[in-house]
Amino acid sequence: EVAAREKVIEAHELTAKLYHYLLMNTTHGQPALEYLRSRGVTDKQIDHFMIGYAPPEWDTLVRFLLKREFDADLMEKGGLLVAKQDGSGYIDRFRDRIMFPIWNRDGKTIALAGRMLGEGQPKYLNSPETMLFNKSRNFYNFHHSRPAMRKSRRIVLFEGYMDVIKAWSAGVNNGVATMGTALTDEHAALLSRNVDEAILCYDGDSAGQAAVLKSIPILEKVGLRVQVAMLPKGMDPDEYIEAHGANAFMRETIEHPVSVTKFKLIYAKKSHILLEEEGQKNYLLEAVRIIAELDSPTEREFYLKDLSREFEFSLDSLKQDCFQQRQKLQ
Ligand code: GTP
Ligand code: MN
Ligand code: MN
Ligand code: MN
Ligand code: MN
Repeated sequence: EVAAREKVIEAHELTAKLYHYLLMNTTHGQPALEYLRSRGVTDKQIDHFMIGYAPPEWDTLVRFLLKREFDADLMEKGGLLVAKQDGSGYIDRFRDRIMFPIWNRDGKTIALAGRMLGEGQPKYLNSPETMLFNKSRNFYNFHHSRPAMRKSRRIVLFEGYMDVIKAWSAGVNNGVATMGTALTDEHAALLSRNVDEAILCYDGDSAGQAAVLKSIPILEKVGLRVQVAMLPKGMDPDEYIEAHGANAFMRETIEHPVSVTKFKLIYAKKSHILLEEEGQKNYLLEAVRIIAELDSPTEREFYLKDLSREFEFSLDSLKQDCFQQRQKLQ
């Protein structure tokens, strides 16, 4: 009911403030602050994204919330506390983690994500699904991005929290991320109500590139124009910005996204050994299949010409193959 939801939001707002305070102003927070700094996270980023630190004790938040007369059972349902197995009370969900508050569309804190300091599993721990938090409908940073999104009619999609944060400082103020789930139809529907165009800027590893391929049709289905900002092999946006700087990131990736077709061609190319005749032939056929999906004859010709130049194949034969592929599509 409404009162319960209000209470859970209030508790999240206070919790985010507590964690932020502990990070910035206490010796307990020092290692976490050092970890963040070692990753190039600035005080400005920490403030803007209200980054915090959940201490290692089992009951920091339990005591904090109960002192303020929040109902422990409700706090458990809201995702902040976890009930002990033996039923003897509650413990904090997040311990010894860097904390990222998650806001809803109105800018109210409705969930949290916590990252380990250093390596370990799970690297990120998110709030569970609650009456307020639905992972398949929420984006990290959607609220902050809204003005820029509305103005440019464009959104940049990242995979991770850190990518959104670093890219924000680099000048991407319309960047959001899904939170440990794949992009859903609900995500896409929300985007289509706010923008016309989506740029996918996922990690440059195979998981990231496979996720790009999966996200494309989901976004296209709701009528969004899609482009892909590619990163060098194995790098994510956060690492790219740390290694090459904000300017290079903007210039080399965000400002020069490739078309969906180009991305699919690059992706397909990686799975064939072009030095072998068989591999080259299979790539060419796959490439033609990708190009055949395009509705515009001009666009098809554009990519076919590219292909014929690259492999010194006659444009005629490629066009004929493309025509045959299109007939199969109908
Ligand atoms: P950093 O190492 O902090 O830079 O994180 P990252 O964003 O580069 O992580 P990665 O590329 O491995 O994963 C992308 C996103 O997937 C993260 O930002 C999280 O939202 C999510 N994710 C990664 N690891 C986990 C995990 O162990 N559990 C959950 N629930 N989500 C995860
Ligand atoms: Mn602050
Ligand atoms: Mn990744
Ligand atoms: Mn990553
Ligand atoms: Mn990263």
